[in-house]
Amino acid sequence: MIGALNHIAIAVPDLNQATRLYKEVFGGNVSKPTAIPEHGVSVVFVELSNTKIELLEPLGDKSPIAAFLNKNPAGGIHHFCLEVDNMDNALRKMNDEGLQVLGPPKTGAHGKSVIFLHPKDCLGTLVEFEET
Ligand code: CO
Repeated sequence: MIGALNHIAIAVPDLNQATRLYKEVFGGNVSKPTAIPEHGVSVVFVELSNTKIELLEPLGDKSPIAAFLNKNPAGGIHHFCLEVDNMDNALRKMNDEGLQVLGPPKTGAHGKSVIFLHPKDCLGTLVEFEET
């Protein structure tokens, strides 16, 4: 069911500083910042040859990463994203197995359908699925 690692997302308190680290210090291929109000984040993509890193900064009052940053003020790995070929099948499988899916599928940062799985069911890690 799962395919490639689509991205690793790092919550950061300061997107400019985070971008500088990945661009100027690490020499990465870094996108312009993009505001995604429906997800409550501003994001910068670091394009790697085999995957991406997403640097996420809270946007707005109800950002889903605000609580995480309160607990991890310097930032930290927030989730990673695995590709699935069929979201309906993936959702059915998660429901059959009793895994908690956090909300209905949404359109993610790449215009594809995404879901999030509760960390309590995934070895303490927030896991995102993105349909390819
Ligand atoms: Co993600």
